[in-house]
Amino acid sequence: MNAPVDLSKITFETERLLLRAPQEQDLEDFFCYASIPGVGEMAGWNHHRDRNESAKILAMMIKEKKTLSLILKAENRMIGTIGLEMHKDELGSKFEPLRGREIGYAMSKTYWGQGLMPEAVTRVIQHCFGSLKWDYLVCNYRGNNPQSARVAEKCGFKVYKDTILQDRNGMDHPGILTVLLNPERVKADLSEFLNSDK
Ligand SMILES: CC(C)(COP(=O)(O)OP(=O)(O)OC[C@H]1O[C@@H](n2cnc3c(N)ncnc32)[C@H](O)[C@@H]1OP(=O)(O)O)[C@@H](O)C(=O)NCCC(=O)NCCS
Repeated sequence: MNAPVDLSKITFETERLLLRAPQEQDLEDFFCYASIPGVGEMAGWNHHRDRNESAKILAMMIKEKKTLSLILKAENRMIGTIGLEMHKDELGSKFEPLRGREIGYAMSKTYWGQGLMPEAVTRVIQHCFGSLKWDYLVCNYRGNNPQSARVAEKCGFKVYKDTILQDRNGMDHPGILTVLLNPERVKADLSEFLNSDK
């Protein structure tokens, strides 16, 4: 079951990052990385064609309160986002009484490969499991996205099943659905969830 979420008052600090609600002042940095082909496309959205498009999406992120901007402290610059999205109803009946959401992320190509996203995701997991007491998190990625798969793996997500991911243009892509259970709240093994509807 998707849990309600409001990240608008949150600020987290990690070794290299600040995680805080998106702000209008993020626009230039956001456009700068979101307009580069090959970033959004791996996450299911098209690269932005102009600042207006980035401004509209930034305004939507501010309004919806389910996304955090990643600020690289050393450069005081927004370099990516993490969102806690509604997941599709495909986890199986044993998940129905449990609470969680789907985590999604994207980051400027300039900063790939430095472990920054795992650093941010780890902090968000702490919040979801430690403070909000959620039972699980979902992370989906396309079959041809090993970078995202590595982030999920490093953060402890386990492969649950194959899935179909629809991009913003309505096209389907084969994907992998991974799940992280909150060990403080769910004692069962993930495989028990998968087999519960058979
Ligand atoms: C997925 C993403 C957030 C990873 O963030 P990151 O901070 O670079 O993550 P990591 O530093 O842990 O690197 C993850 C893997 O990416 C690969 N990688 C590293 N540098 C890379 C580069 N310059 N180019 C391509 N891949 C690279 C490596 O396989 C690495 O795994 P390793 O640490 O075991 O070597 C980032 O690649 C991204 O924004 N991709 C586009 C959007 C996207 O795919 N979002 C997820 C949708 S489900």
